[in-house]
Amino acid sequence: MSGNTVRSVTACRVCGSERWQKVLSFGNVPLANAFLEAGDTEALAREQAYPLEVISCRECRLLSLTAVVDPQVLYRTYSYVTSDSETMARHMRTVVRLCGEQVELAEGDLVVELGSNTGEQLMAFREAGARVLGVDPARNLAEIAEQRGVPTVPEYFDSACAESIVAEHGRASVILGRHVFAHIDDVADVLAGVHALLAPDGLFTIEVPYAVDLLDGLAFDTVYHEHLSYFLISTLDTLFARHGLRTVDVERLPVHGGSVLVSAGPADGPHPTGERVRELMAHERAAGFLSDARYEDFAARVQKTCADLSHLVRDLAADGHRIAGYGASAKGTTLLNICGLGLGELEFCTDTTPQKQGRLTPGTHLPVLAPGDVGEQPDYYLLLAWNYAEEIMRKESAFLEAGGGFIVPVPEPSVRTRAVSRR
Ligand code: TMP
Ligand code: ZN
Repeated sequence: MSGNTVRSVTACRVCGSERWQKVLSFGNVPLANAFLEAGDTEALAREQAYPLEVISCRECRLLSLTAVVDPQVLYRTYSYVTSDSETMARHMRTVVRLCGEQVELAEGDLVVELGSNTGEQLMAFREAGARVLGVDPARNLAEIAEQRGVPTVPEYFDSACAESIVAEHGRASVILGRHVFAHIDDVADVLAGVHALLAPDGLFTIEVPYAVDLLDGLAFDTVYHEHLSYFLISTLDTLFARHGLRTVDVERLPVHGGSVLVSAGPADGPHPTGERVRELMAHERAAGFLSDARYEDFAARVQKTCADLSHLVRDLAADGHRIAGYGASAKGTTLLNICGLGLGELEFCTDTTPQKQGRLTPGTHLPVLAPGDVGEQPDYYLLLAWNYAEEIMRKESAFLEAGGGFIVPVPEPSVRTRAVSRR
């Protein structure tokens, strides 16, 4: 990508085809995690927006963005920190358990995590007795992980990086990539690295948003520049097969709007393809995910949801209600920018992440406040972190009791108040 910030996709990164169906086109949108410093007028003036469009490969049904933003721009300093939430803590323990069911992890076996962020997931593996190593190019986050005792290679994982890990630490029983594989453009080189690093009986396990859940749940705001690919199991199976790996197992999980934990082993390894893999691939075919019509329908429904949400929020604001965003999530950036919601409708956005507080949301420039700094609560919060809806409703019961409401944007915009939240 030398010198250029954006690459336009031509050939499919999974199968090489150039036969694409256009699915979504959101125009130019700023980067989802590019929060701005409030007083930095120069940065505000320089703020960049990039095309945000989704296409579907007619051969393998990979959903891909058309524009690949240089990872050096996206990840060297990264403000996305794994959410400090009960939901995530529980989920990370589930991941340890599921990996342990598939690969017998003996004391001291190596677990390598790609995109290890602040080391939270690896700490859970270490508690289970594994030897752990993180890989993450975000130097600010790798440093935090190191301080917590999680050794972390501050680099992008590729075949060269894999060779040096093997030389220093040996082969890995588990290579895990949670919500990172869909961020990778050159999947071939990463899979070559996986091959080099993985023990012959080891498993490469990735967690990615599931394209079926994206379409069924209308989670269109999970489309942003970091997410280059949106996978079906059928598509992953094609990809793995092309790189000497065999799909072994899959588990559907509720995190981030619906994800799958998919494991693959060397094609000549001991792990067979499980029944659940076959079942989901059959479902994808039967439910139309391998043909154009399903994606046309999705695009029409996304357009309607966007328009409905815009109207709902604008009407509430026009009636004099005070509205703010809840959770300055990456998908919040997409949602606000493509629905045209900003300072005209919302006063601020709360977020529990210290790295985001005191800054401005990308494109829309809402001030991000720590929940404790809000002062008088607004009448409504637009729930931009809707993937934690249940946890947040519990935490904010006093706000609801006092008459406040949450606007839940997807799959259809709705308002939850005390009356509706009581079960
Ligand atoms: P995520 O879905 O990518 O984890 O992002 C969720 C964002 O929402 C993250 O910036 C943290 C924020 N958040 C809150 O502000 N309050 C909460 O209670 C939770 C669970 C998340
Ligand atoms: Zn393809």
